Amino acid sequence: MRRLTVPKIRDRKVDGVTEEPLVMLTAYTARQAQLLDPHCDLLLVGDSLGQVIYGLPSTIPVTMEMMANHAAAVVRGSYHSVVVVDMPFGAYEASPEDAFDSAARLLKESGAAAVKLEGGEAMAETVEFLVKRGIPVMGHVGLTPQAVNVLGGYGARGRSDAEAEKIVGDAKALEEAGAFAIVVEGVIEPIAIAVTKAVSCPTIGIGASSQCDGQVLVTDDMLGMFERVPRFVKRYEDVATTISETAAKYAEEVRNRSFPGPDQLYQPK
Ligand code: KIV
Ligand code: NA
Repeated sequence: MRRLTVPKIRDRKVDGVTEEPLVMLTAYTARQAQLLDPHCDLLLVGDSLGQVIYGLPSTIPVTMEMMANHAAAVVRGSYHSVVVVDMPFGAYEASPEDAFDSAARLLKESGAAAVKLEGGEAMAETVEFLVKRGIPVMGHVGLTPQAVNVLGGYGARGRSDAEAEKIVGDAKALEEAGAFAIVVEGVIEPIAIAVTKAVSCPTIGIGASSQCDGQVLVTDDMLGMFERVPRFVKRYEDVATTISETAAKYAEEVRNRSFPGPDQLYQPK
């Protein structure tokens, strides 16, 4: 099977309607990508890897090197989904030229198909600059975690009329600039629906609405790997407990010398 392409993703929304919602999950490692790939349309190498993999307090300290390395692993571990890489904080905001250098490096070093960047109207010129030069861009509006120091936290957006209007305007600006899809994160549901109606490209919701053209979750959150997760995460599994209980069994068997047992040992012929 050939890998899906950015135009195929974009064209899943026809005349404002996406019959079958787009499925996106985050992936950071090759093995994780292998397991998720058959079930997804898109794999996102999110800068959420700052918290999820590196134990950082936010996405602010995430580097280009981290993104490029994990993106390369995810591309190696997948053959079906479109792989999208987050541009880390500081790598694209100052100018369209900076953004192009960063995006080109990420795609060249990883083999991913597209980048994602946060911000609306303020980033529209940059999005157009990249798309015109051969780099597909996914937008990201609403709750944009790289702006945590400006927003003051990770609360839902769009509760005031002014904020709601701004989010819809941001999404429209990104669409006009050529974004092939837009993540809508952490907004009140009516605004997620308004954004989805306002733009012709697919919206991908997280803490948004089932009416978006697709959904994304942080895979580790979905699996129950984190102690604290936002309201919008559904924990489909409790993998943290599985890992913890497995480690406890192993530790016990090492300590009472029942591991390794006869099945795990080599003996002379
Ligand atoms: O970094 C990330 O995982 C993301 C998704 C939550 C959209 O940006
Ligand atoms: Na992100």
